[in-house]
Amino acid sequence: MEGRLRRLCASADLPAGASIRFPLEPARPYAEEGFAYRAPDGRVRAWVNVCPHRAQPVDLGDGRLFNAAGEVECQAHGARFDPSSGACVGGPCFRNELRPLAVVESEGEIRAATEAA
Ligand code: FES
Repeated sequence: MEGRLRRLCASADLPAGASIRFPLEPARPYAEEGFAYRAPDGRVRAWVNVCPHRAQPVDLGDGRLFNAAGEVECQAHGARFDPSSGACVGGPCFRNELRPLAVVESEGEIRAATEAA
């Protein structure tokens, strides 16, 4: 399910622990962007920036994605997600998960799907 991949940034511009947000196409309310981050193990993952609790952006637009434990944490009501799998690990996400986006890193660049499945 890679679909169309769009260049996000150079690999060097996304160090471990960093994240980048990007628009999805076509833009629509509450599903208008994704985010990608590089884990400490070096792998890049990408998700739709929509919380399954109430369909709000996980970071509420202020750019915060991770809590002190390294989990992705929704800033609205505290739903917490495993940043490796997107699975709910606590809070009001009720066993739902973040929706993954295909991401590929090759030849010094990071590309991600810009259409949510
Ligand atoms: S909208 Fe994310 S926890 Fe409620």
